[in-house]
Amino acid sequence: MKSVLFVCLGNICRSPIAEGVARKLIEEGGHGIAVDSAGTGSWHVGEAPCKHSVTVARNNGVDISHLRARQVTKADFQAFDLIVALDASNYRDLRAMGCQNLVKLGDYGYGGADVPDPYFFDGFEGFENVYTMIRECVSELLSKHL
Ligand code: 4NP
Repeated sequence: MKSVLFVCLGNICRSPIAEGVARKLIEEGGHGIAVDSAGTGSWHVGEAPCKHSVTVARNNGVDISHLRARQVTKADFQAFDLIVALDASNYRDLRAMGCQNLVKLGDYGYGGADVPDPYFFDGFEGFENVYTMIRECVSELLSKHL
């Protein structure tokens, strides 16, 4: 695998964490894999990741503050070797767009579970759990697809 794209709904909470975690693991491993993230929706295009995602990532040594949200396009399905959906609705939306090279992040060590959408969480609580799930799944995914 030479490139991977993580996709959630808004590209401001979950997939930027996945992108940051993957980039760090890839750099540490010396692997030349390109990483990006995107959202199926357009509401937050151009925005930085939400503050709790930036904080939980920073607490774990990952800087995602410079990332900016963008919307996924069909061209991404050709441009990236693997597209990774963060939950079942993201997976369905991407399939409906014609994406074939598609997996779900929770299939890597979490029995296919959805990464919960933290956008509607009340405060910071919950972001630690989301971060842990994303880090463990991304690590498993990279070890399977390197
Ligand atoms: P994300 O979280 O998909 O993890 O970036 C969300 C961000 C925004 C919205 C939903 C989820 N929204 O409805 O605007």
